Amino acid sequence: MYSYAHPSISAHALAKTARGLRRGRLIAAAACLVACSRDAEAPDTPAVDGEWAYTARCSYCHDVPNGIGAAVTPGVLAAYSTVGQLDRYLRVAMPHQAPGSLPDNEYDAILRYLIESRRMVPGATDAWPLPDSTLLEPG
Ligand code: HEC
Repeated sequence: MYSYAHPSISAHALAKTARGLRRGRLIAAAACLVACSRDAEAPDTPAVDGEWAYTARCSYCHDVPNGIGAAVTPGVLAAYSTVGQLDRYLRVAMPHQAPGSLPDNEYDAILRYLIESRRMVPGATDAWPLPDSTLLEPG
């Protein structure tokens, strides 16, 4: 007798697969409720407060007496010449004990915080994000 069903695919296995697919869609839908409710314009990662991120990730080496990193002064930052070079240095070299370990949005926020708080680029706040070629000129 001829059967249309492939002998190795039981009805039970098919039902299980269908349930798995449905569960996958439910999880995707739940994730989307959280993630997709943001503006279409919003970046992939949520914004982080730069001062908070700098304090949490950097200042315990740079802003404490006898810290192993030098104070991050306007003069120190200016040595990197452009926004792009400072950005790359921080991503490649900091935090010193775990370079490159921070999420993208924290590097972005810390870069912005340092440039604004040390007044490295006139009008930075209104012009953000700054092109990589923007010169660092402490004002
Ligand atoms: C574990 C300690 C530590 C942490 C955490 C750390 N740094 Fe550093 N940082 C250092 C040391 C040590 C140096 C000197 C590195 C060298 O000369 O190679 C340095 C160098 C720097 C420099 C360059 C200074 C110069 O004279 O050119 C900058 C800018 C800087 N760090 C910023 C940061 C930022 C921003 C963070 C947070 C994302 C951070 N650091 C986290 C220890 C640290």
